[in-house]
Amino acid sequence: MTVKTTKAIRLDLQTWTEVEEYLKHCKGIILPLGSTEQHGPTGAIGTDALTAEAVALEVGCRTGVLVAPTQAFGMAEHHLAFPGTMSLQPATLLALLHDLVLSLAGHGFEKIFVVNGHGGNIATAKAAFMQAYSTAETRKLPIASRFQCKIANWFMASEVFSFARELYGDREGQHATPSEIALTLHLEPILRTKQRPLPEAAPVGPIHGPHDFRSRYADGRMGSDPFLAQSEHGELLLEKAVFALSKDLTNFLQQS
Ligand code: NI
Repeated sequence: MTVKTTKAIRLDLQTWTEVEEYLKHCKGIILPLGSTEQHGPTGAIGTDALTAEAVALEVGCRTGVLVAPTQAFGMAEHHLAFPGTMSLQPATLLALLHDLVLSLAGHGFEKIFVVNGHGGNIATAKAAFMQAYSTAETRKLPIASRFQCKIANWFMASEVFSFARELYGDREGQHATPSEIALTLHLEPILRTKQRPLPEAAPVGPIHGPHDFRSRYADGRMGSDPFLAQSEHGELLLEKAVFALSKDLTNFLQQS
């Protein structure tokens, strides 16, 4: 499966009059959320943004729901000891998501479906939604009573999770996982040259500060073996993620 992007579902390619027209028949929108952070010795810095965007665009194509531009920066403080990582502090990400979802709510978007590619964003995104609900009421937005945001983590969808276990077993790990790397290999053929022979398993443990992280996880992997990643796996994982999240989104749009 290749990701088809059509003008019809990309917010950045619409005119404001087209958005106004869209809102007459659909109140939902997808916001892809990633991170720009180290992904182990073979993974691209943009892994979480590339994967979230690909899943979001394909879910948009299948459901006809608009897709906002990707928010490529997330909460990656613990990866800052690795070159190339660009992080938003939790308070910054909270404020950013709060402002973005309220911008949309102000136009009449009632259901914001955030397709997320990074575990480190989850707590902050949920906090931002709570804050946004309060602000919507304080501002007396016409849709305040119907305003709902949902975070959908493609890598945690049960179909994806169980398939990743089937492919990689315990070597799926927690960070720089073969499943997310496989998806980037499918999306960006230029990355396929970076694969190397199988190393020993990466360590597992807690997450604290950036330098503590680097001293525990020297090459950036957590419990994972991204060397197992293959682009063919990525194609299948993308299909499973899109299937699961399209179903989630449809249910979300229908729920009161
Ligand atoms: Ni990741």
